[in-house]
Amino acid sequence: MTAPAVPTARGAGVASDATTFRDVAPGCPVPGGTLVDDSAISGVADGQAAVRGDLAAGPATGGDPGGVSAGQLYELALRAPAARLWARGPDGRRPVPVDLWRGDLAPGDEVLLDACQGPTLDVGCGPGRLAAALTRGGVSALGIDVTEGAVRLARRAGAKALCLDVFGPVPGVGCWREVILADGNIGIGGDPVRLLHRARALLAGHGRILAEVEGPGRPTRVYPARLECAGLTSVPFGWATVGVDGIGPLSGSAGLRVTAVTARAGRYFAVLEPRAEA
Ligand SMILES: C[S@@+](CC[C@H](N)C(=O)[O-])C[C@H]1O[C@@H](n2cnc3c(N)ncnc32)[C@H](O)[C@@H]1O
Repeated sequence: MTAPAVPTARGAGVASDATTFRDVAPGCPVPGGTLVDDSAISGVADGQAAVRGDLAAGPATGGDPGGVSAGQLYELALRAPAARLWARGPDGRRPVPVDLWRGDLAPGDEVLLDACQGPTLDVGCGPGRLAAALTRGGVSALGIDVTEGAVRLARRAGAKALCLDVFGPVPGVGCWREVILADGNIGIGGDPVRLLHRARALLAGHGRILAEVEGPGRPTRVYPARLECAGLTSVPFGWATVGVDGIGPLSGSAGLRVTAVTARAGRYFAVLEPRAEA
């Protein structure tokens, strides 16, 4: 998938809530970070109108003044399920499975859930199906995402979630037992080695990264992507795809090694652990 790399910080009120993080990972440093006010999403019946209203009001925070941001179109798709979201990359466009992410667990998700002992950080949690399921199962978990609408939905689903950029201040640096990069989130930022370095810094000493990758024969690619929805096209943002064949070398560049790969339901999951000498 391609997904927004640009935060959309308009609309909803935000409030600090350090208690949430203490609940998730006691003993770790208290975060900065914001929790989104759930009430702001109710009453939004027409997502497209809302996004067009946002556009009329000016460029989104952190967005490109030259057009609609990917974050705005992702917000639109989250608000208006009937509005189909597409990602355009080097192979043309393909649908973005927002409905899947908004729904219950997807086939293969159990590989990630079973591997988590917690505390677990779900990076780019979207509407939070994984973080919510971990929480229901008694595993301490926190979702982070730059998209406010996604964080609201995650919290509604029962997850603890914060509106944060993985490359910015994040709670619990050096404390997480598992860091999840699911649904192609290894592509966040368009620089997988940088993202893996960042994820590695978030881990506790015995921690590991659970990264979903693409299948055999799929190359590692870094490219500008665009989202399309309701007749609108976003400005480009950096994204990447990583195949199971390429995850080893990339991991090595980030001081990690691949300790397991699992294929399930047509999906591929790699476990990455810090190299002893790194
Ligand atoms: C491919 S979607 C993943 C969906 C998600 N895993 C789910 O279950 O719905 C990518 C997600 O990453 C988020 N994202 C993009 N850039 C991010 C960043 N720098 N930090 C945190 N989240 C980010 C997007 O807002 C989006 O929700």
